Amino acid sequence: MTVSRRTFLASSATIGGALTLGLPDVVRALEAHTESPARRPVAPLRILILGGTGFIGPYQVQYALDRGHKVTLFNRGVTNTALFPNVPRLVGDRNLPDGHKALEGGEWDVVIDNPTSNPKWVRDAGNALRGRTKHYLFVSTISVFSDNSKPIDENGPLHLPSDIDAAYDAKVYGQNKVRSEMEAKTQFGNDVTIIRPGLIVGPGDLSDRFSYWPVRIDRGGEVMAPGTPNDPVQYVDARDLGEWIVRLAETKTLGTFNATGPKLPTTMSEMLYGIKAVTTSGARFTWVAADFLTANQVRAWSDMPVWVPPTGRTAGFARVICTKAYAAGLTFRPLAETAAATLQWYHARPAAEQEKARAGLAADREVAVLAAWHASGRSE
Ligand SMILES: NC(=O)c1ccc[n+]([C@@H]2O[C@H](COP(=O)([O-])OP(=O)(O)OC[C@H]3O[C@@H](n4cnc5c(N)ncnc54)[C@H](OP(=O)(O)O)[C@@H]3O)[C@@H](O)[C@H]2O)c1
Repeated sequence: MTVSRRTFLASSATIGGALTLGLPDVVRALEAHTESPARRPVAPLRILILGGTGFIGPYQVQYALDRGHKVTLFNRGVTNTALFPNVPRLVGDRNLPDGHKALEGGEWDVVIDNPTSNPKWVRDAGNALRGRTKHYLFVSTISVFSDNSKPIDENGPLHLPSDIDAAYDAKVYGQNKVRSEMEAKTQFGNDVTIIRPGLIVGPGDLSDRFSYWPVRIDRGGEVMAPGTPNDPVQYVDARDLGEWIVRLAETKTLGTFNATGPKLPTTMSEMLYGIKAVTTSGARFTWVAADFLTANQVRAWSDMPVWVPPTGRTAGFARVICTKAYAAGLTFRPLAETAAATLQWYHARPAAEQEKARAGLAADREVAVLAAWHASGRSE
């Protein structure tokens, strides 16, 4: 719960007057003066969420329900089926020719399309929803950009779009998202919001790309840290992203937004030491130079998650300009909250899942590369 200085002072005055009351009254007085966005009254919307049960979706759904909106979900009924038993669910497989048929009966103020990379899904959603929604929000990605050599805003150069009528090829992710963004405008005209997140992190992330660091640091010992302590990083907590998307829907904010954080430029060392601060481990970081990592087949991003070398063609990758999103209300919880929640979530996962991490360096490889680094004479 965030309390600004102004509201804290206002709360203190209220509490001063409330000191003769019992503790529950004081707590209520404080809560009445917080800026928790979930407490602000908003006009209820009919929101259709395409997807909604994977990673970012559940946070959106819960936040939207908390704010009094009427939510409908549309998916196959395969992922996390126990979630939201009281929320109406339309069923369809978007890969099938008549997969969007279930959407044809309804009418919604807003449609949020979370999982789509296949531009055909956007076309089919447009056809099924024609004239029956006022606003379409599409979750894209910063991978639409073709040039990461310098910091880019929303007008940076894009990949060439994939062919919507060709067989879908998931490998050309950026190209597919570019075509999907174009198709969103074709189908829904000006009533479109395009959100381009960077790396999405936090509890529920099955890609392990951020989780590696809290888990590794929590284990303690000598931790291999990539590049230099000053290398930039960017990421966005799925909860901050999901909640902001709901607020964009409430205000019908249109346009295209790069959407990653933190708001202030952040370095790899700030991230790693920030994560360490929520553990009790005595982790020690050894910074291994980028060229040494490459020579030892340690890959940026996948083996050393979140990090890419801030040079050459990836010099701007972790410096994407998101000031437009910040001005439109994208906010960030503290790293400590993200790290602690991620760690807690990770340890609650089944043991087999924990052992099969999808990203990050295996423990034996880390030991071997660190030994080679120390033997190289470059580690001092
Ligand atoms: N992860 C990152 O770091 C990152 C970075 C940038 C952008 N992004 C983008 O962020 C978005 C994240 O989406 P999310 O997965 O978190 O969304 P989500 O809405 O939480 O989950 C995905 C939903 O899609 C449904 N779905 C999957 N296949 C379907 C099909 N064939 N037909 C109908 N529904 C289907 C799933 O339910 P069923 O399985 O039950 O159908 C599930 O409800 C994606 O667009 C991704 O490209 C991600």
